[in-house]
Amino acid sequence: MSSLVNLLIRHAHVVLPDSNLIFADVLIRDRLIAEVAPVISPPADTLVIDATGLTLLPGVIDPQVHFREPGLEYKEDLFTATCACAKGGVTSFLEMPNTRPLTTTQATLDDKLQRAAQKCLVNYGFFIGATKEVLPDLNTAHPVCGIKIFMGSMHGPLLVNETEVLERIFASGTRLIAVHAENQQRIDQRRQEFAHIHDPSIHSQIQDNQAALEATQLALSLSKKYQRRLHILHMSTAEEAELLRQDKPAWVTAEVTPQHLLLNTSAYAKIGTLAQMNPPLRSPHDNQVLWQALRDGIIDFIATDHAPHTLAEKSQEYPNTPSGMPGVETSLALMLTAAQQGHCTVPQVVNWMSTAVAQAYRIPNKGAIAPGYDADLVLVDLENYRPVLREEIVSKCGWSPFEGWNLTGWPVYTIVGGEIVYEKGKINTHVRGQALRFDAA
Ligand code: DOR
Repeated sequence: MSSLVNLLIRHAHVVLPDSNLIFADVLIRDRLIAEVAPVISPPADTLVIDATGLTLLPGVIDPQVHFREPGLEYKEDLFTATCACAKGGVTSFLEMPNTRPLTTTQATLDDKLQRAAQKCLVNYGFFIGATKEVLPDLNTAHPVCGIKIFMGSMHGPLLVNETEVLERIFASGTRLIAVHAENQQRIDQRRQEFAHIHDPSIHSQIQDNQAALEATQLALSLSKKYQRRLHILHMSTAEEAELLRQDKPAWVTAEVTPQHLLLNTSAYAKIGTLAQMNPPLRSPHDNQVLWQALRDGIIDFIATDHAPHTLAEKSQEYPNTPSGMPGVETSLALMLTAAQQGHCTVPQVVNWMSTAVAQAYRIPNKGAIAPGYDADLVLVDLENYRPVLREEIVSKCGWSPFEGWNLTGWPVYTIVGGEIVYEKGKINTHVRGQALRFDAA
C-alpha cells in the first residue's frame, strides 16, 4: 500500500506559471500544492526532498498514447506503460481507442477505466473512437477527453474516411474531435504502386506529405463549417503547418511528436523499420518548419503517440511490419535536451508538455506549479547527460528509436497526486493515479 505523506521540496529551480524560473520551496499537502515560497520550514510529519541542483516542472500530460490494454498486452499493458510514464516524468495520459475490443461504447470505456484504476501508476483519460456506423455512445460516453477519428492508417471499423460519415460526426455534438489526418484513398493507391519495394524508407513516400495535407484540409473545412472543436494529432508536414499558419480558427489546436521534430527519413538507414510510424517521418525541411510552427504557437503542444510493438514484429520485412514507436520514457528528456541546445526554452517545454495540454482538453487543476493545483510534478536534472540505453527501457516493447542519444533533463523524482512514483531509478509500483476530469465546453 502507498502511504500519503506531506512533502516539502526544497531549494528547487521552479518553473512558475508566468514562465519565470525562481529558486523556491514547494509544500505539498493532501495531494495538492499548498505553498510556493522562497523558504518554507518543514511542518511536522513532512518528508523533505533536497532538490538542490534540480529543476521542478509540472508533470507531463501526454495527450496521445496507445497503451494496448485490453487485447494487445503482449506489446504493452497499463501497468508497464505507466511504469514507463513514471520514469519519463509523464504524470497523466490520454489514450487512444484502437485496443481490442475497440473503445467505442460506454461499456468498453468502463472496462478500460476499471483496469486503469487497478493498474495505472499515473493519471488517465481515454478517447472514444468514431466508427463508420456512428455509434450512439460517441457523444454520450463519459468521461472522455474527446472523439478520435482515424481518417487514414487504420483498418476495420475505426477507419472513417467517407466524407458523408465525417460530416455526420462533425455536425452532431460539441465535444472535441481529434483526427489522425491521412488520406486513406491516396495511401491505398500509392501502396499498390510501390508494392514491390521492401526498403522501409518507401513508407514515407507511400504515406506522403500530400496524403497528410489532404486529410488535414478536409478536417479543417468540416471544423469551420460546423464550428466544431478540432484537434490535429501528430502533425508531420511543413504543408500542414503552413496551412494552419494561413488559417487557424480559434477552436482548432494541433500537436507534434518529438520524433517528427527530431527524426527524419535519414533514420531508416540507421534503425530500419523501428523508424516506421504513421504519419511517417519526413524531411529535415519538415523538421525545421514544424519547430518554427511550434515556437510560433501554430502548433500548440507535444504528444508522443507512444505506440509500442515487439522487436519480433518490427523485424519482419516491410510492409509486414507494424507502424509505431514508443515515446513516454524519453519525450521530456528529448525536449529538455532540445531546449539546452537552443531550439526552445525550458518554460516553452513546460507549456507544450503540460500547461497547454491541460487547457486544450480542459483538465482542471493541472499543468502549473501554483497553490491549489494537483501535486503532479517532476524534478529533472538539467546538468548531467545520460544516454538512452536499450537495457534500461521499461516499456514492455524493450526498445527506443532514440537508443544511444545522449540526453539531459532526465527525471530524478516523479510525483503523482503528492506521492513519489519514481525516485532516482526506482519505480514505486504501489502508487495509483486517478481518472482525469474534463470540464464541459
Ligand atoms: O504509427 C502509428 N501507430 N500511428 C498511429 O497513429 C497508431 C499507432 C499504433 O497504434 O500502432
